[in-house]
Amino acid sequence: GDAAVLVPAAGAGVRLGGDVPKALRELRGESLLVHAVKRAAAAASVRLIVVAAPPHLVSEVRELLTGVDADLVVVAGGASRQDSVARALAVVPEGIDIVLVHDAARALTPPELVDAVASAVRAGHGAVIPVLPVVDTIKRVDSNGDVAATVDRSELRAVQTPQGFRREVLVKAHAEAGGEHTDDAGMVERLGLPVHCVPGSELALKITRPVDLIIAEALLTAEVA
Ligand code: CTP
Ligand code: MG
Repeated sequence: GDAAVLVPAAGAGVRLGGDVPKALRELRGESLLVHAVKRAAAAASVRLIVVAAPPHLVSEVRELLTGVDADLVVVAGGASRQDSVARALAVVPEGIDIVLVHDAARALTPPELVDAVASAVRAGHGAVIPVLPVVDTIKRVDSNGDVAATVDRSELRAVQTPQGFRREVLVKAHAEAGGEHTDDAGMVERLGLPVHCVPGSELALKITRPVDLIIAEALLTAEVA
């Protein structure tokens, strides 16, 4: 492979709840992080995986990942996802020119999606995101709880990870895009650079709330993930 995958895993998981950071919560006996890293490691494009762990759990996370067959580095994450990504990006060695930014919380993301994103970068796109059509009707609502408008859903997409970048594009985005961003592609957009979409996967759902853990469990039981 020729790509590095950064796996931010340092979040607390406030919306999911529970006693341990979300990335260490288990699905059928394996942590979300191990699920995510194993699937990324199975992608032919991947040469190196860099995990950003909760700072107080770096050695535990290293231990947890010893069984995974991959070139792996664990660093301490930061206070925001953006921070955690920056810390992981900082240790990617020279010579790796494609960098994918993932989420431990998208634990069931198939290796095929990782390869599809990396391929689109390899084909010449500086920034690539996997997207799905939005299924719900979306409305803009004002602060009184009144509907201001119905947004044209046909031009909206829900965005997933891994997001793929030519290394220099991601480095520039992190160095120059000010403020907080919920994804890395948003920082690239801020620079005025193009971001290309490829089809996402329903299996790449982000495990955010308790119901998502139940859905993920069901996907594993049904052997579709
Ligand atoms: N993340 C991180 N460092 C942070 C915050 C988030 O590495 N300081 C990671 C999470 O571990 C997760 C990914 O970014 O894999 C996506 O974030 P999210 O789903 O929001 O996870 P949490 O921040 O842990 O959840 P919550 O916002 O509910 O606390
Ligand atoms: Mg969060």
